[in-house]
Amino acid sequence: MLEVKDLWVTYKSRSGIGVSAVRGVDFDIPDNSFLGLVGESGCGKSTLGFGIAGLLDPKRNDVSGKVILDGQDLYTLSKEQLRTLRWEKLSVVLQGGMNAFNPVLKIKQQFIDVMRAHSNQSTSSMVDRIAELLSAVQLDPRIMDSYPHELSGGMKQRTAIALSLVLHPRLVILDEPTTALDVVVQRSIINMLSELQRLQKFSVLFISHDLGLVLEVANRVMVMYSGQIVEDKPASVIMDDAQHPYTKALLGCYVNPHAENVSLKGIPGTPPDLRGGVQGCPFAPRCSFVMDVCFTKTPQLVKCENGLVACHLYRQDEVTVE
Ligand SMILES: Nc1ncnc2c1ncn2[C@@H]1O[C@H](COP(=O)(O)OP(=O)(O)OP(=O)(O)O)[C@@H](O)[C@H]1O
Ligand SMILES: [Mg+2]
Repeated sequence: MLEVKDLWVTYKSRSGIGVSAVRGVDFDIPDNSFLGLVGESGCGKSTLGFGIAGLLDPKRNDVSGKVILDGQDLYTLSKEQLRTLRWEKLSVVLQGGMNAFNPVLKIKQQFIDVMRAHSNQSTSSMVDRIAELLSAVQLDPRIMDSYPHELSGGMKQRTAIALSLVLHPRLVILDEPTTALDVVVQRSIINMLSELQRLQKFSVLFISHDLGLVLEVANRVMVMYSGQIVEDKPASVIMDDAQHPYTKALLGCYVNPHAENVSLKGIPGTPPDLRGGVQGCPFAPRCSFVMDVCFTKTPQLVKCENGLVACHLYRQDEVTVE
């Protein structure tokens, strides 16, 4: 349903040195799937989400590659075509999206504004749809008559998810949808989201820095490091069959409450500066398995038994020199 081909995003800066936040990313999202995207803060997850949703201004950023949604290349569409497609086929709940509501409009009005821009429904049928959506995210439909400040953070986040579904999109991109919330609220929102996805069969790209959370809800996980996808595997196998040293290290930071012995390890070092280029494997300076080749050649994402991995430890038929 969605294909991303060799996507590069570089934020331009006044100093002239760009930040290459997404560096040659390839993946696809089939219909009715729940894909998790994990990685440390600053690795480019939100930028990738913006790139897919066509939210990056091409005048201020260098964007190249293809994002093909339902056969249409988003980067060849006009602003108007993109605007239509954005709610109807693809919607986004932005990081901190619960603060994205207009503070002076009631919730109902904010839903109506989106629906009006895309269809000619009567007010009563729009109100019915809003009530249906709010119930689906387990909120009392009467909150549609509230202003955003009258809702708690968790309620606003549920409302943002309900709004993203208003026009039945096929893909919803959720960027850290529960990060600012306490764990109990987080859990109930995640369960609600997973149930909704199962029933309504849209696809989800779930962006999070929390691998444990992603493993519980997603059916496939992509691990991102320094603007690149380093591993892409079904969620059911990545726990036991992580191959990339970064994924293994991330798993070492995750507390499995079912494990007999819990030991936590941090990942020493910091991610590379994304200004300018990165030579070789970006994880090399922090990797416990580093080899000479890692500093000179960028490992490509290649097929392995259960998915894809980008690491010189595994057979690389093709390597490129940067
Ligand atoms: N508008 C911008 N202009 C310049 N650089 C930016 C801009 N937005 C993000 N960046 C840089 O791009 C890189 C990736 O940022 P991004 O927000 O995509 O990371 P992230 O993985 O979503 O992080 P987090 O987990 O903290 O949300 C970072 O180095 C960041 O400093
Ligand atoms: Mg982010």
